[in-house]
Amino acid sequence: MERTLVILKPDAVQRQLMGKVISRFEEKGLPIVACKMMTISPELADRHYEAHTAKPFYPGLKAYMTGGPVLVLVLQAEGVIAMVRKMMGATFASDAEPGTIRGDYGCAKGTFNLIHGSDSPEAAQREIELFFEKNEIFDYKLTNQCWLKA
Ligand code: GTP
Ligand code: MG
Repeated sequence: MERTLVILKPDAVQRQLMGKVISRFEEKGLPIVACKMMTISPELADRHYEAHTAKPFYPGLKAYMTGGPVLVLVLQAEGVIAMVRKMMGATFASDAEPGTIRGDYGCAKGTFNLIHGSDSPEAAQREIELFFEKNEIFDYKLTNQCWLKA
């Protein structure tokens, strides 16, 4: 079963949007199998965003991601990686379509974009291992899932 790592970034926490974003995933029918609040250390930020550390925007991205608590989630369902990326919307909130999380809750032109979602199965596996121990992930079945498959 496919899994993805979602981070509700410091602006989502500070703007009190955690509940609204989690509700979108729950209303969609996507099971949440792990969830915790934490502050991302500088070292963890470097590992999570290893593809971006050499880019000119990285110092600002690192300061943002380590600047306050985040809520980290794992969602589990067939096709969940692509579904969550669609629900997030385009990288910059100012470009993101209405109806998406970034499009509905943000208007920043750059770094501040509320949410992270893994962009491939390989990234998801790597990122989940960075943020969660195995015993923090709950592989349970939701009783409503029979209505969300066929
Ligand atoms: P994540 O889910 O957070 O990984 O976002 P993404 O996959 O939509 O974008 P990407 O992985 O390309 O970039 C990671 C993060 O870096 C983005 O979410 C932005 O916060 C920031 N970022 C990316 N590109 C730029 C840029 O050109 N300028 C600035 N200021 N920030 C950027
Ligand atoms: Mg990305």
